[in-house]
Amino acid sequence: LRIAVVFGGRSAEHAVSCVSAGSVIAALDPDRYEVVPVGITREGRWVLSDAGPAELAIVAGRLPEVSGGTAVSLVGDPAGRGLAVLEPGVGIGRALTAVDIVFPVLHGAYGEDGTIQGLLEMAGLPYVGSGVFASAASMDKEFTKKLLAASGIPQGDHVVLRDAAGALTSDPAALDQATRDRLGLPVFVKPSRAGSSIGITKVTDWDGFPDAVATAAAVDPKVLVEAAVPGREIECGVLAGVGGAPPEVSLPAEIRLRPGTDWYDFSVKYVDGAVDVDVPADLTPEQVARIQDVSRRAYLALDCSGLARVDFFLSTDPATGEERVLVNEVNTMPGFTPTSMFPQMWAASGLSYPDLVDRLVTGAVD
Ligand code: DAL
Ligand code: MG
Repeated sequence: LRIAVVFGGRSAEHAVSCVSAGSVIAALDPDRYEVVPVGITREGRWVLSDAGPAELAIVAGRLPEVSGGTAVSLVGDPAGRGLAVLEPGVGIGRALTAVDIVFPVLHGAYGEDGTIQGLLEMAGLPYVGSGVFASAASMDKEFTKKLLAASGIPQGDHVVLRDAAGALTSDPAALDQATRDRLGLPVFVKPSRAGSSIGITKVTDWDGFPDAVATAAAVDPKVLVEAAVPGREIECGVLAGVGGAPPEVSLPAEIRLRPGTDWYDFSVKYVDGAVDVDVPADLTPEQVARIQDVSRRAYLALDCSGLARVDFFLSTDPATGEERVLVNEVNTMPGFTPTSMFPQMWAASGLSYPDLVDRLVTGAVD
């Protein structure tokens, strides 16, 4: 089977995607799969990548990037045999490589948001992961929250920054005093469509709010303000069931920040590693069952396919003292880096990294 692993891309998570792809490529059994590594530069140019594993890793804080390689286009094959990687300007019929399936190991905009999924649908080519709708809905945290709410899935308090007419705005004054009082401090100010904590600021004083909004708005004009949820940070993996069976869930894991680490930001995630992860998390069987149940429901609520990682806060309701399982977000192409939680949770649940990748590919071809 010839598989195009697509990585890099135009989003702010370019480097994370490169690292994820490096791990995925290394895990694909060479006896079964011929990998065509397709890098997308930050500008959106597609290249046949010649980057080796060392170049697709974070070494001494240096973030990888797609740069060189033979320029290619990904174009649908009119004979319906799938997709061909073509020499630019040469056209169909001089295909360099026809591929059977695509693994878009892309995070964020132009990759995890339904855009490449649409391209692949048009070309009639199978691909790993969620389709156009689920990708778009899960990428945009505003609509993720709306769909989860419609399914009765509990979440933290939040608002989207809009002006009086309802248009998106980056004017910090759009958050009125009553809403500030309701959300309380700290708040997390986020770009609605982003990942890996890029563009997010934890605001502990309203004086810092305008800068935080500007930082988020530089990534996405849609800015989200979320109330901080005190509690434990838990994640859970979901995989499509085999042969149309219901989705399966992993054992949950917990992220524990070390003293001196304020929150789970980009640097903590990928560079400093100043975090301890418990895989699996230390939870009661009842807590595990509840988190797994909500994970499955969130996956279905967003119409996901293939895989997803659901991120939670486990907290206590200050009014009632009851435990709350709140969904923070859903990732349709979770990180596959060596420090990423999704593959670690599946490994702890009995599915090794190579078996996980193999199952995702096999599930997409069937
Ligand atoms: N957005 C990153 C890759 C994650 O969720 O793991
Ligand atoms: Mg995310």
